[in-house]
Amino acid sequence: MSATKLLLRQLRREAEGIVSYEFVSADGAPLPPFTAGAHIDLQLPEGLSRSYSLVNDPAERHRYVVAVDHAADSRGGSAWMHTVPRPGHRLDAGAPVNDFPLYEDAPLSVFIAGGIGITPFMAMIARLNALGRRWQLHYAVRSRERAAYVQELHSLDRTGDAVDLRCTSEDMGRPDIAAIVREAPPGSHVYCCGPNGMLDAFTAACSSLAPQRVHLERFSASQEAATAGGYEVKLARSGKTLQVEAGRTLLDTLLDAGVDIQYSCSQGICGTCCTPVLEGTPDHRDDYLTDEEKAGNRAMMVCCSGSRTPRLVLDI
Ligand code: FES
Repeated sequence: MSATKLLLRQLRREAEGIVSYEFVSADGAPLPPFTAGAHIDLQLPEGLSRSYSLVNDPAERHRYVVAVDHAADSRGGSAWMHTVPRPGHRLDAGAPVNDFPLYEDAPLSVFIAGGIGITPFMAMIARLNALGRRWQLHYAVRSRERAAYVQELHSLDRTGDAVDLRCTSEDMGRPDIAAIVREAPPGSHVYCCGPNGMLDAFTAACSSLAPQRVHLERFSASQEAATAGGYEVKLARSGKTLQVEAGRTLLDTLLDAGVDIQYSCSQGICGTCCTPVLEGTPDHRDDYLTDEEKAGNRAMMVCCSGSRTPRLVLDI
């Protein structure tokens, strides 16, 4: 799919360390529509690509707004976003993709956000308000200064009691995730986006809920990428065999060999690099495949996963 050309119209400081970016179409072509919970992949220099949730109301067709936390990404993307782009800057982006969709018919949607994890919920809340559906938000931040979108949330909160903001620095405690999930009324859907510790607590709290009522989105990997190397990879279509050396990921090895492979997050989150496996047992390190899919060993995320067997055969 061809890239969408974006023009940065404005930047806004949303909180300490968090800046939002409003992009419009650079060539006047209409922006592809998006649904609540979607993200775009911004193409940054040197082949870097970063996924950012769309924050604005999905009913808007004239702009994409994303917010970037300077502290959340130590791999160069957020540092570049915070220092280089200024109004007038042009960037390419992929069309919006939604791996974290909103279930619009729930009688109540319960959102649990940690820090920059608030971003997908802004679009979801706008959408639920448009539909006249109920929602509640539990929003944990380190300090009030680091809480983005607080004013907007209070304006979106039509009942006046839907937003529970917890600032660790003010001894307010963290949201009691187990209690929030336990008390969610039957039929409600629960969502979480935040740091891995929060997501792990959420997953544990939701173990007895029907999986279709539980939704989570990670913005950093829960496991280290496999870099032990010491196995060979046969590419079934070209017949090439590559050796994965210690210190290199499988993706590094494929790219070094000139293999044309799509990837984006490089962290096992987005699913872009999903590759069919014909033989061998991958060492799955991603957060994209389900446990069942991992056990089936028919596909793997080559950006972060390795091999448990001396040889893998991939269908590429
Ligand atoms: S590039 Fe995102 S999962 Fe591999």
